[in-house]
Amino acid sequence: METISSDTGVLVPDGAVKPVGRLLVVGAGYTGQRLATAAARQGFEVVQTSRQPSPGGAASRWLPFDSQRGLVPGSADLKGITHLFVSVPPDGQGGDPVVRLLGARLRDLPLVWAGYLSTTGVYGDTAGAWVDETAPTPARPGRSQARLEAEQAWLASGLPLQIFRLPAIYGPGRTPFQALRSGTSRLIHKPGQVFSRIHVDDIVGAVLHCLALPAGQRPTLLNVADDEPSASSETLGYAAHLLGCRLPPLERYDSIEASLSPMARSFWQENRRVSNRRLCEELGYRLRYPTYREGYRACISSAYGEPLG
Ligand SMILES: NC(=O)c1ccc[n+]([C@@H]2O[C@H](COP(=O)([O-])OP(=O)(O)OC[C@H]3O[C@@H](n4cnc5c(N)ncnc54)[C@H](OP(=O)(O)O)[C@@H]3O)[C@@H](O)[C@H]2O)c1
Repeated sequence: METISSDTGVLVPDGAVKPVGRLLVVGAGYTGQRLATAAARQGFEVVQTSRQPSPGGAASRWLPFDSQRGLVPGSADLKGITHLFVSVPPDGQGGDPVVRLLGARLRDLPLVWAGYLSTTGVYGDTAGAWVDETAPTPARPGRSQARLEAEQAWLASGLPLQIFRLPAIYGPGRTPFQALRSGTSRLIHKPGQVFSRIHVDDIVGAVLHCLALPAGQRPTLLNVADDEPSASSETLGYAAHLLGCRLPPLERYDSIEASLSPMARSFWQENRRVSNRRLCEELGYRLRYPTYREGYRACISSAYGEPLG
C-alpha cells in the first residue's frame, strides 16, 4: 500500500480521510490549483488564496491575498497550517510579497515545510551549457533580479524552505495547439538555441515526492525540468505533427528580433540547459513526462479526446 509521511510522523494510506496536514497554497493559479487538488487527494486539508472575490476550482477553502491591494488573510484564518506552497511571483516592490505581508504570521505557525516556486531564469544565459543548482546566479536588472531578491527573502525567512526552480511550464490548456489551430503560431529559428521545460504535473509530482522524503533529505534548492531541452521550432513541429496541421513559415530570429516585445526578446536572449540530476538521480523522482513528446501527447488526448496511435 502506498503511503506518504508527514512531519507529524503519521503514516497515512493514499485516499485516507484523516488530514495528514493543513496546506496553505498562496497563489492558486495554474500550478497552485493542480498541486492543491493532488495534495487534497493525498489527505491534506487544503486552503488556497486568490485575488478574485469568489474563485472556483478545487473543493477547498479560499482566502483573499492580494499584495497590490494589501489584502491578507487574518491569523485566525491561518490557524493550524502545517505546510505552505507559494506560487506568487515578485510584485515589483522588492523582496517577496508573501514574506513581506505574511512573514510574521507564517513564523507563528507550526510549519513543517514551505515550498516556493521560482524560475531557472536566475541562472541567466549560459550559451547553451547545462546548469545545476550550484551554478552562479548572476545579478541582472529586471525580472531575474527581482526573482533573486524574492528567493533571498525566503531564504532569510527562517522557515523550513524548499525553492523549486522551474523552466517554461506547459500542460493541459498551456500548449502550442490552440495557436497552431488558430493560425497565430510563429515558427522562429535561432541556431543553437534551446529551452528547457516542465509539465505542470511533474512539478506537482516532484513537490509531493519531496514531501514524502524525510525532512533532512529535502534539498533547499531544486531544479524541476524535464530530460530534453530543445529548440522551440522542434517542439512546434512535433505539435503540428500531432495535430496534422501545417506549420507557419520559418522566420530567422535575426530578422525578427527588432519586432519582438522586450519580454519576448529577453526570453530568446537566454540559452541554457537545466539539469534535473539532483531531482531524478539523487532524490529518485521518476518524471511522468520525460520530454515534450510524452507531455504533448498526454495534453492532446486530454484536450481533444483524440487518443493517438
Ligand atoms: N509560467 C511559466 O512558464 C513559469 C516558468 C518559471 C517559473 N514560473 C513561476 O512559477 C510560479 C507558478 O507559475 P504559474 O504559471 O502556475 O503561475 P500563475 O498561473 O500565473 O499563478 C500565479 C498565482 O499568483 C497569484 N498572484 C500573482 N500576483 C499576485 C499578487 N500581487 N498578490 C497575490 N497573488 C498574486 C495569482 O493570483 P490569481 O489567481 O488571483 O490571479 C495566481 O494564483 C509563478 O511564480 C511563476 O512566475 C512560471
